[in-house]
Amino acid sequence: MFEKRDLCWLLKPVSKKQIVTWFMEDRAPSVTARTIEREMPLLFDGISRSQKEDASIVLSLTEEGSLGDEGYSIDKTESGYVIKGGTQKGLLYGIFGLHRLLVGKNGSFPYISIPDQNYRMINHWDNFDGTIERGYSGNSIFFDHNKFRGDMNLIRQYARLLASVGINAVSINNVNVRKYERFFITGDYLKEIKKIGDIFTEYGIQIFLAIDFAAPISVGKLSTADPLCPEVASWWRHAVEELYRIIPDFGGFVVKADSEHEPGPFTYGRSHGDGANMLAKAIRPFGGIIVWRCFVYDCTQDWRDRSLDRARAAYDLFHELDGSFDENVILQIKNGPIDFQIREPVSPLFGSLKETNQILEFQITQEYTGHQKDICYLVPMWKEVLDFDTRHGASSLVKKAVREYSPNQKLSGICAVGNVGMDRNWTGNKMAQANWYGYGRLAWDNDLTSEEIAKEWLYLSFDLTDDAMKKALSILITSRDTYENYTCPLAVGFMCKPGIHYGCDIDGYEYDCWGTYHYADRDGVGRDRTAATGTGYTKQYSPLKFQEYEDIHTCPDQLLLFFHHVPYTHVLHSGKTVIQHIYDTHFDGVEKVKEYQAKWESIRDVLDEDSYKNVRDRLNLQLKNAVEWRDQINTYFFRKSGIGDEAGRTIYN
Ligand code: GCU
Repeated sequence: MFEKRDLCWLLKPVSKKQIVTWFMEDRAPSVTARTIEREMPLLFDGISRSQKEDASIVLSLTEEGSLGDEGYSIDKTESGYVIKGGTQKGLLYGIFGLHRLLVGKNGSFPYISIPDQNYRMINHWDNFDGTIERGYSGNSIFFDHNKFRGDMNLIRQYARLLASVGINAVSINNVNVRKYERFFITGDYLKEIKKIGDIFTEYGIQIFLAIDFAAPISVGKLSTADPLCPEVASWWRHAVEELYRIIPDFGGFVVKADSEHEPGPFTYGRSHGDGANMLAKAIRPFGGIIVWRCFVYDCTQDWRDRSLDRARAAYDLFHELDGSFDENVILQIKNGPIDFQIREPVSPLFGSLKETNQILEFQITQEYTGHQKDICYLVPMWKEVLDFDTRHGASSLVKKAVREYSPNQKLSGICAVGNVGMDRNWTGNKMAQANWYGYGRLAWDNDLTSEEIAKEWLYLSFDLTDDAMKKALSILITSRDTYENYTCPLAVGFMCKPGIHYGCDIDGYEYDCWGTYHYADRDGVGRDRTAATGTGYTKQYSPLKFQEYEDIHTCPDQLLLFFHHVPYTHVLHSGKTVIQHIYDTHFDGVEKVKEYQAKWESIRDVLDEDSYKNVRDRLNLQLKNAVEWRDQINTYFFRKSGIGDEAGRTIYN
């Protein structure tokens, strides 16, 4: 039934040897029970349904409660395995879990798994015309030429892949809501969206929509979208009522307001609390939630004005609103204060919002990290964010803070911008599947290591020898550092081509309105964000973090140019000068890509032909990109600083 596409990590069924029958008490037959029924023979080759409780796999609902709504346990018995779940959804996750453990041959039993985060969401930035904003894997799996693509088999494949890694919520359209998508919240569109939602429901996934804050005007033909206008509130109430009549298990709305030209409450002199709470009140009677994005900043900045600092924007706006949001509002906060760069500090909103439901936002799609041409395994970066200590205390690690500082812990979690499209292998570069898989696994279990996740994905996706496994693993694990090495140095960010965000253009954003400046001159480089002499951004952190970042001597090397403007001769903790660090990392980065090519070539024999060629071709592109970055960056800083490379390597002038 799923023959058309590469099924990634669910490709290998567990062989027949020990597992031949399965049994589930049908205490409450449901959509999920039917899904389990369908999945069993797909995951466990040739298995048949048994009437007896001593089958090879027994699925059993437990009333103990300790597994929560989604957790499961797996035990090994003489006759096979017993999977327990508090709900049928838990059992569904359990069978995917058992499949993973058996294929990966890394199970030790009893095995208990309970998700660390409640919402584990994916945001699609798919447009109705079929394009995907920041999509690098072909067109949308949902939409095509302003129609619903209608390939329900494909959507079912997608849903099962998501469920297999524990994703439980998906928004299907771009946060920048265009002409037709504004009408998604109305009749005929909703009927189509319900068809997609029904498939997601089979896999325990709730569907969400991104909405236009000004829909009362664009859709409702009112003269205003002022959140405090009673007519507007009533319009939303009716719209939501109609929506839930058609899709009773609808999750809620994702809202990008007052950001990058999207409309919002500021137009009417209202606050983001006013905007979010008005929508929250409309949707609450139906159990819906409002996911309100904190990615709000002035994108019409004057580069001449050094007093403005885009990094400050989200905290300045939302920090003072802490505690003022309705109980079914969740704030969605990007991992860093700017925009998904290869290296940024963690957003200071984490740990400082203490009375607001919150979701951390990552980006799986590789917008600034190589467009899925370059290999860049992002799990190590996400782990740094989750493990970042916001306040210096056990519960102040980001992974805990998002949950524990949310007044309703059920309304907290992690979301990420998705990276799949119509490409046959879903993600353009097959290696980018590791980010998709890894995001789901990490959102479920925040303590998995980057290496564990990468290994799992490799085991499930290929048939590698030990040596090949080592090589493929080393490519993934080092790829983030490699990408960082040949691109922007020391967290300076945004030296990429404007608009597309792939390839090098050092001054591309320097005299523009987007608030992302590196201020390189003949003496030095970096943004002074200190309280003493800069924009004061450092003050947004806890006192200890403030001190660490404010002081040039304690600021971590990796983040130096994000926080400080320094001379090229400044000596890093590593003992190198900034200029020498720039040269060394850029030469190293290119060498590393060459090493990846050699490694990939050397494991060709154990790879399937499609994957081999796909990654080989992408690595060729990656090398070109890395060489271009290296040469432009090195030349640029050589010309600015007049300081040569200690190692005497070729730097063009
Ligand atoms: C980035 C990205 C945009 C996107 C925005 C967002 O700025 O380049 O395409 O719309 O993030 O998160 O809303």
